[in-house]
Amino acid sequence: MAASNFPRHVAIIMDGNGRWAKKRAMPRAFGHKQGGEAVRRTVEAAKTLDLECLTLYAFSSENWKREEGEISDLMNLMRRFIEKELDAFVANGLRLKIIGDYKAFAPDIVDKLEDALERTKDGTRTLAVALNYGAQQEIARAARLAAEEGEVTPAAIDRHLYTAELPPLDLLIRTSGEVRLSNFLLWQSAYAEMIFMDVLWPDFGEEHLRAACETFAKRERRFGGR
Ligand code: IPE
Ligand code: IPE
Ligand code: MG
Repeated sequence: MAASNFPRHVAIIMDGNGRWAKKRAMPRAFGHKQGGEAVRRTVEAAKTLDLECLTLYAFSSENWKREEGEISDLMNLMRRFIEKELDAFVANGLRLKIIGDYKAFAPDIVDKLEDALERTKDGTRTLAVALNYGAQQEIARAARLAAEEGEVTPAAIDRHLYTAELPPLDLLIRTSGEVRLSNFLLWQSAYAEMIFMDVLWPDFGEEHLRAACETFAKRERRFGGR
Protein backbone atom coordinates (compact mmCIF):
# COMPACT_ATOMS: atom_id res chain seq x y z
CA MET A 1 0.00 0.00 0.00
CA ALA A 2 1.29 3.43 -0.87
CA ALA A 3 1.91 6.20 1.63
CA SER A 4 -0.88 8.79 1.66
CA ASN A 5 1.46 11.55 0.49
CA PHE A 6 2.56 9.54 -2.54
CA PRO A 7 1.67 10.97 -5.97
CA ARG A 8 -1.57 9.93 -7.65
CA HIS A 9 -0.32 10.65 -11.15
CA VAL A 10 3.28 10.09 -12.23
CA ALA A 11 4.56 10.70 -15.76
CA ILE A 12 7.88 9.48 -17.10
CA ILE A 13 10.06 10.62 -20.00
CA MET A 14 11.66 7.26 -20.71
CA ASP A 15 15.02 8.35 -22.08
CA GLY A 16 18.41 6.71 -22.57
CA ASN A 17 17.78 3.51 -24.52
CA GLY A 18 20.30 4.45 -27.21
CA ARG A 19 23.04 5.33 -24.72
CA TRP A 20 22.38 2.14 -22.75
CA ALA A 21 22.94 0.09 -25.91
CA LYS A 22 25.97 2.13 -26.97
CA LYS A 23 27.66 1.46 -23.63
CA ARG A 24 27.36 -2.23 -24.44
CA ALA A 25 28.43 -1.83 -28.08
CA MET A 26 24.99 -3.06 -29.09
CA PRO A 27 22.55 -1.66 -31.70
CA ARG A 28 20.05 0.96 -30.54
CA ALA A 29 17.26 -1.56 -31.20
CA PHE A 30 18.60 -3.68 -28.34
CA GLY A 31 18.33 -0.68 -26.04
CA HIS A 32 14.73 -0.17 -27.10
CA LYS A 33 13.97 -3.86 -26.49
CA GLN A 34 15.36 -3.66 -22.97
CA GLY A 35 13.45 -0.40 -22.60
CA GLY A 36 10.31 -2.46 -23.21
CA GLU A 37 11.26 -4.68 -20.27
CA ALA A 38 11.62 -1.57 -18.13
CA VAL A 39 8.11 -0.53 -19.18
CA ARG A 40 6.75 -3.89 -18.04
CA ARG A 41 8.57 -3.62 -14.67
CA THR A 42 7.44 -0.03 -14.17
CA VAL A 43 3.80 -0.80 -14.90
CA GLU A 44 3.96 -3.55 -12.27
CA ALA A 45 5.72 -1.22 -9.84
CA ALA A 46 2.99 1.40 -10.31
CA LYS A 47 0.51 -1.21 -9.14
CA THR A 48 2.65 -2.15 -6.13
CA LEU A 49 2.97 1.53 -5.22
CA ASP A 50 -0.76 2.00 -5.74
CA LEU A 51 -0.46 4.86 -8.23
CA GLU A 52 -3.75 5.85 -9.76
CA CYS A 53 -2.23 6.88 -13.07
CA LEU A 54 1.09 6.31 -14.81
CA THR A 55 1.79 8.21 -18.02
CA LEU A 56 4.68 7.10 -20.23
CA TYR A 57 6.27 9.07 -23.07
CA ALA A 58 6.88 6.37 -25.67
CA PHE A 59 7.08 8.24 -28.99
CA SER A 60 7.17 11.97 -29.53
CA SER A 61 5.88 13.89 -32.53
CA GLU A 62 9.54 14.82 -33.12
CA ASN A 63 10.79 11.21 -33.05
CA TRP A 64 9.78 10.90 -36.74
CA LYS A 65 13.07 12.73 -37.39
CA ARG A 66 14.97 9.54 -36.56
CA GLU A 67 16.27 7.12 -39.16
CA GLU A 68 13.68 4.96 -40.85
CA GLY A 69 15.26 1.79 -39.49
CA GLU A 70 15.02 2.95 -35.89
CA ILE A 71 11.41 4.07 -36.35
CA SER A 72 10.47 0.69 -37.79
CA ASP A 73 12.25 -1.09 -34.90
CA LEU A 74 10.20 1.00 -32.47
CA MET A 75 6.97 0.22 -34.33
CA ASN A 76 7.71 -3.52 -34.32
CA LEU A 77 8.46 -3.39 -30.62
CA MET A 78 5.14 -1.71 -30.05
CA ARG A 79 3.31 -4.41 -32.02
CA ARG A 80 5.00 -7.16 -30.00
CA PHE A 81 4.55 -5.36 -26.70
CA ILE A 82 0.78 -5.08 -27.13
CA GLU A 83 0.49 -8.73 -28.22
CA LYS A 84 2.53 -9.92 -25.25
CA GLU A 85 1.24 -7.69 -22.46
CA LEU A 86 -2.42 -7.06 -23.21
CA ASP A 87 -3.80 -10.09 -21.36
CA ALA A 88 -1.81 -9.16 -18.26
CA PHE A 89 -3.07 -5.56 -18.48
CA VAL A 90 -6.66 -6.79 -18.54
CA ALA A 91 -6.02 -9.26 -15.69
CA ASN A 92 -4.41 -6.50 -13.61
CA GLY A 93 -7.34 -4.10 -14.00
CA LEU A 94 -5.34 -1.63 -16.04
CA ARG A 95 -7.18 0.86 -18.21
CA LEU A 96 -5.16 1.93 -21.23
CA LYS A 97 -5.38 5.50 -22.42
CA ILE A 98 -3.51 6.93 -25.39
CA ILE A 99 -2.49 10.54 -25.56
CA GLY A 100 -1.27 11.90 -28.88
CA ASP A 101 -2.15 11.48 -32.53
CA TYR A 102 -1.80 7.69 -32.65
CA LYS A 103 -3.96 7.45 -35.77
CA ALA A 104 -0.91 8.51 -37.79
CA PHE A 105 0.63 5.08 -37.10
CA ALA A 106 0.31 2.11 -39.47
CA PRO A 107 -3.29 0.79 -39.73
CA ASP A 108 -2.45 -2.53 -38.04
CA ILE A 109 -0.99 -0.69 -35.05
CA VAL A 110 -4.02 1.60 -34.85
CA ASP A 111 -6.24 -1.53 -34.85
CA LYS A 112 -4.18 -3.19 -32.12
CA LEU A 113 -4.25 -0.04 -29.99
CA GLU A 114 -7.99 0.38 -30.41
CA ASP A 115 -8.56 -3.26 -29.52
CA ALA A 116 -6.43 -2.72 -26.41
CA LEU A 117 -8.41 0.43 -25.50
CA GLU A 118 -11.65 -1.51 -25.82
CA ARG A 119 -10.46 -4.54 -23.87
CA THR A 120 -9.08 -2.48 -20.99
CA LYS A 121 -11.89 0.06 -20.75
CA ASP A 122 -13.21 -1.25 -17.41
CA GLY A 123 -9.82 -1.11 -15.68
CA THR A 124 -9.56 0.91 -12.50
CA ARG A 125 -5.96 2.15 -12.66
CA THR A 126 -4.77 4.06 -15.71
CA LEU A 127 -1.75 3.54 -17.91
CA ALA A 128 -1.59 6.48 -20.29
CA VAL A 129 0.85 6.10 -23.17
CA ALA A 130 2.01 9.11 -25.16
CA LEU A 131 2.24 8.10 -28.80
CA ASN A 132 3.07 10.55 -31.56
CA TYR A 133 2.59 13.08 -28.79
CA GLY A 134 3.72 16.70 -28.69
CA ALA A 135 2.54 19.06 -25.97
CA GLN A 136 2.60 22.16 -28.17
CA GLN A 137 0.39 20.42 -30.71
CA GLU A 138 -1.88 19.23 -27.89
CA ILE A 139 -2.26 22.76 -26.50
CA ALA A 140 -2.86 24.29 -29.95
CA ARG A 141 -5.53 21.67 -30.64
CA ALA A 142 -7.20 22.21 -27.27
CA ALA A 143 -7.19 25.99 -27.79
CA ARG A 144 -8.76 25.56 -31.23
CA LEU A 145 -11.49 23.27 -29.83
CA ALA A 146 -12.08 25.65 -26.92
CA ALA A 147 -12.41 28.60 -29.34
CA GLU A 148 -15.00 26.69 -31.37
CA GLU A 149 -17.05 26.36 -28.19
CA GLY A 150 -16.65 29.88 -26.84
CA GLU A 151 -14.15 31.59 -24.59
CA VAL A 152 -10.55 30.33 -24.53
CA THR A 153 -9.89 30.09 -20.80
CA PRO A 154 -7.41 27.83 -19.00
CA ALA A 155 -10.33 25.71 -17.79
CA ALA A 156 -11.69 25.37 -21.33
CA ILE A 157 -8.25 24.35 -22.63
CA ASP A 158 -7.94 21.83 -19.79
CA ARG A 159 -11.18 20.19 -20.88
CA HIS A 160 -9.84 19.63 -24.39
CA LEU A 161 -6.41 18.26 -23.54
CA TYR A 162 -5.83 14.55 -24.11
CA THR A 163 -5.37 14.30 -20.34
CA ALA A 164 -8.74 15.90 -19.50
CA GLU A 165 -10.08 12.97 -17.51
CA LEU A 166 -6.82 11.99 -15.83
CA PRO A 167 -5.93 13.09 -12.29
CA PRO A 168 -3.74 16.23 -12.14
CA LEU A 169 -0.08 15.52 -12.81
CA ASP A 170 1.83 15.32 -9.51
CA LEU A 171 5.27 14.11 -10.48
CA LEU A 172 7.25 14.16 -13.70
CA ILE A 173 10.35 11.98 -13.94
CA ARG A 174 12.95 12.02 -16.71
CA THR A 175 15.62 9.35 -16.90
CA SER A 176 19.03 9.48 -18.62
CA GLY A 177 20.31 12.66 -16.94
CA GLU A 178 18.96 15.07 -19.57
CA VAL A 179 17.26 18.06 -17.97
CA ARG A 180 14.58 19.11 -20.43
CA LEU A 181 10.93 18.39 -21.20
CA SER A 182 11.23 17.64 -24.93
CA ASN A 183 7.65 18.76 -25.65
CA PHE A 184 6.05 16.54 -22.99
CA LEU A 185 3.04 17.62 -20.87
CA LEU A 186 4.02 21.31 -20.93
CA TRP A 187 0.60 22.51 -19.79
CA GLN A 188 0.10 19.77 -17.20
CA SER A 189 3.54 20.38 -15.68
CA ALA A 190 2.65 23.90 -14.50
CA TYR A 191 2.78 22.78 -10.83
CA ALA A 192 4.10 19.24 -11.13
CA GLU A 193 7.17 18.28 -9.12
CA MET A 194 10.07 17.22 -11.34
CA ILE A 195 12.78 14.67 -10.79
CA PHE A 196 15.64 14.12 -13.22
CA MET A 197 17.35 10.80 -12.59
CA ASP A 198 20.78 9.66 -13.65
CA VAL A 199 19.61 6.22 -14.70
CA LEU A 200 19.24 5.07 -18.30
CA TRP A 201 15.70 3.91 -19.01
CA PRO A 202 16.50 0.18 -19.59
CA ASP A 203 17.91 0.06 -16.02
CA PHE A 204 14.80 1.65 -14.47
CA GLY A 205 12.65 -0.40 -12.13
CA GLU A 206 10.58 -0.48 -8.95
CA GLU A 207 13.34 0.85 -6.70
CA HIS A 208 13.76 3.97 -8.88
CA LEU A 209 10.04 4.65 -9.01
CA ARG A 210 9.74 4.15 -5.26
CA ALA A 211 12.71 6.45 -4.58
CA ALA A 212 11.17 9.16 -6.78
CA CYS A 213 7.81 8.83 -4.99
CA GLU A 214 9.58 9.08 -1.61
CA THR A 215 11.38 12.24 -2.72
CA PHE A 216 8.06 13.64 -3.94
CA ALA A 217 6.45 12.84 -0.58
CA LYS A 218 9.03 15.02 1.22
CA ARG A 219 8.56 18.05 -1.01
CA GLU A 220 6.41 20.98 -0.04
CA ARG A 221 4.02 21.99 -2.80
CA ARG A 222 2.69 25.53 -2.68
CA PHE A 223 0.84 26.20 -5.93
CA GLY A 224 1.71 29.87 -5.60
CA GLY A 225 0.36 30.21 -2.05
CA ARG A 226 2.25 30.56 1.21
C1 IPE B 1 14.24 6.80 -25.47
O1 IPE B 1 15.57 6.48 -25.70
C2 IPE B 1 13.31 6.08 -26.42
C3 IPE B 1 12.63 6.96 -27.40
C4 IPE B 1 12.81 8.25 -27.52
C5 IPE B 1 11.70 6.32 -28.30
P1 IPE B 1 16.44 7.21 -26.80
O2 IPE B 1 16.32 6.44 -28.07
O3 IPE B 1 16.10 8.64 -26.91
O4 IPE B 1 17.89 7.02 -26.20
P2 IPE B 1 19.08 8.06 -26.19
O5 IPE B 1 18.53 9.35 -25.66
O6 IPE B 1 19.55 8.19 -27.59
O7 IPE B 1 20.10 7.46 -25.28
C1 IPE C 1 11.88 12.29 -25.49
O1 IPE C 1 13.15 11.78 -25.67
C2 IPE C 1 10.87 11.41 -26.16
C3 IPE C 1 10.63 10.11 -25.54
C4 IPE C 1 11.19 9.67 -24.47
C5 IPE C 1 9.67 9.29 -26.23
P1 IPE C 1 14.08 12.23 -26.88
O2 IPE C 1 15.31 11.43 -26.76
O3 IPE C 1 13.33 12.14 -28.15
O4 IPE C 1 14.33 13.77 -26.56
P2 IPE C 1 15.54 14.72 -26.95
O5 IPE C 1 15.73 14.60 -28.44
O6 IPE C 1 16.75 14.23 -26.21
O7 IPE C 1 15.13 16.07 -26.49
MG1 MG D 1 16.79 10.34 -26.07
